[in-house]
Amino acid sequence: MSNTRRILITAALPYANAPVHLGHLAGAYLPADIYARFQRLRGRDVLFICGSDEHGVAITLAADAEKVPPGVIVDRYHTMNMEAFRKFGVTFDNYSRTSIPLHHETAVEFLMEFQRRGILSEKSEKQLYDEKANMFLPDRYVEGTCPVCGNTDARGDQCEQCGTFLDPMQLLNPRSKITGDSPVVRETTHLYFPLGNYQARLEEYVRKSDAADGWKENVLQYCRGWFKEGLKDRAVTRDLKWGVKIPLPGYENKVIYVWFDAVLGYISSTKEWARLAGRPDAWKEYWLGPDTKYVAFIGKDNVVFHTIVFPAMLMAWNDGGRERYVLPANVPANEFLNYKGQKFSKSRGWGIGVGDFLQRYPADPLRYSLAAGLPEYRDSDFTWRDFQAKNNNELADILGNFINRTLAFAVRAFDNAVPPRGPLGDLDRGVLSLLERTPPAAAEFYEHYRFRDGLMEVMNLARGANKYFNDSEPWKTVKSDPVRCATTISISLQIARSLAILMSPVIPGSCERIWRMLDIPGEAARGLWDTAGEDALRPGHRLGTAGILFTKIEDSMIEPDSTVPPGEVAPPPGAAPEKITIDDFRKADLRVGKVLRCEPVAKSEKLLKLQVEIGTEQRQIIAGIARHYRSEDLVGKLVVVVCNLRPATLMKEESHGMVLAASDAAGKLVLVTPESAVESGASVK
Ligand code: MF3
Ligand code: ZN
Repeated sequence: MSNTRRILITAALPYANAPVHLGHLAGAYLPADIYARFQRLRGRDVLFICGSDEHGVAITLAADAEKVPPGVIVDRYHTMNMEAFRKFGVTFDNYSRTSIPLHHETAVEFLMEFQRRGILSEKSEKQLYDEKANMFLPDRYVEGTCPVCGNTDARGDQCEQCGTFLDPMQLLNPRSKITGDSPVVRETTHLYFPLGNYQARLEEYVRKSDAADGWKENVLQYCRGWFKEGLKDRAVTRDLKWGVKIPLPGYENKVIYVWFDAVLGYISSTKEWARLAGRPDAWKEYWLGPDTKYVAFIGKDNVVFHTIVFPAMLMAWNDGGRERYVLPANVPANEFLNYKGQKFSKSRGWGIGVGDFLQRYPADPLRYSLAAGLPEYRDSDFTWRDFQAKNNNELADILGNFINRTLAFAVRAFDNAVPPRGPLGDLDRGVLSLLERTPPAAAEFYEHYRFRDGLMEVMNLARGANKYFNDSEPWKTVKSDPVRCATTISISLQIARSLAILMSPVIPGSCERIWRMLDIPGEAARGLWDTAGEDALRPGHRLGTAGILFTKIEDSMIEPDSTVPPGEVAPPPGAAPEKITIDDFRKADLRVGKVLRCEPVAKSEKLLKLQVEIGTEQRQIIAGIARHYRSEDLVGKLVVVVCNLRPATLMKEESHGMVLAASDAAGKLVLVTPESAVESGASVK
């Protein structure tokens, strides 16, 4: 497969209901962009497609919460997210949105084709209905208790805690998200897609694709689970107003189910790209081309839609004999990135927004630190300390240092030009052989979606080069053996050029700067991966102006990693907090609590589980202070508790409130405690 020339890459269409956060980047967009950039460097014909998912209950819930029409929400977040991706350096060839007519036409075309060919069946089923709001409650309009794991906040479409996909009717104790009432059950009619009819072919498809391109184990696991349970018919219409309208009698008040239309967004976005490029049929070269390799990047919560639902839809279309769409050759889904012990979540407002982050730091250190810790096999954590360490100890101290000292030496000793080489010694041969091995070794990892390992290979070259510079001691040989010194600097410059190419999928901005410092015509990203090891800088080539590549991040510039459980995204430090009224403040029910018992939370380095007495009541509170306090030191302490915080679940433990703490200059958390003893339950004003 690695000889394929044309590669279609898609990244999951994010809902335009909130800002994209670092968890999204690590889950799908960064790996997809690294892969796209890498494949372009290999000379492949790449098309990289994305856009906003603008339908579904995720959108209307956000609109309801703000009491604005859904269009206001999607316009706002479509623009914001497109801009965040641009700043982060994601090289989409097109970023579309599913509210455009072209997309609606595409989705209707699929639905009607299936309907015409008798693939869909109409069924009447019982569904939850909110009598006060006068509407059916599909998907996320209902919350309740998960029948599988008992999570009391499971959403109607999926339990975020155990990952099970649900139908609202399966929830125990369902409650309406609109009115909070318990819904009643009513009959309604919908069109169903017969997923079960495709099961055998889907199993075959997954098996063959895995054999050809090595699917990730987590993705295969999901598929096996679904196959084992047996695929069932799935409703592809909903009783909603917002979405793609259905031109069938009786369906005037219904829309296409959001997932049925969203996956087709990849196709409509490609059509839009083709129109904008002035070649309206060019989308077919990718989607209908028999030699296209199609890779769909997603986060793990989207697996079933990309390995089962979407492929089944494409199979159904292809059976019509008109056109043959390519199916994903691979669906490299990542696990989740966590922040302070919890998964990033838009709906719970937890995490760090991409736009906010990039107002404070450049994109490359973030790209690098996320890439080095991608949740490829298991969940990983974003921590500020790690971000700082990756930037300071790796980008600045290894890569930046190597480039800067090499260029500084060329200016000082060789008139800012590439010196000629003399005979090679052992050190030279050693680093040149490392250089020769690196591009194919890293490529092998990148071809198999192992981005952490690929990056590690390239960073090892930077490490080796830095060591080579040290061991060669050009500052000594410049006097004692000028030919040796010239050789060292010439080879170092060659490696600098190679690193500018090989690192560019991960830190493109910095690599362009290295390229300019070396004053090579064109762009680093136009270099060719497979020639990155070559000696392409001729002796006498004049170099450009060197500059600092990476600025160190000081302790005072980052946030402490441990904190109390979240309610909302914290504003970036330094941003002036918004003024609130005394009434706003009084909304918080702050009370003195007394810690009765305390123990660490299993498998968490940060969390402690406190049992706190608040007057006559006792509550469990999970606090992110394990790095700062020992359990035994907390018992008997008086703390200040936010009592009316929405309950949260952290590492499977419920938390009913939050204890207040301040962080000192070193980032250590210090609990807020009354100045002298007061009764627990006393309110804090
Ligand atoms: N909007 C979905 C989410 O954020 C992803 C949709 S991916 C696509 O989870 F396949 F529908 F495009
Ligand atoms: Zn569950």
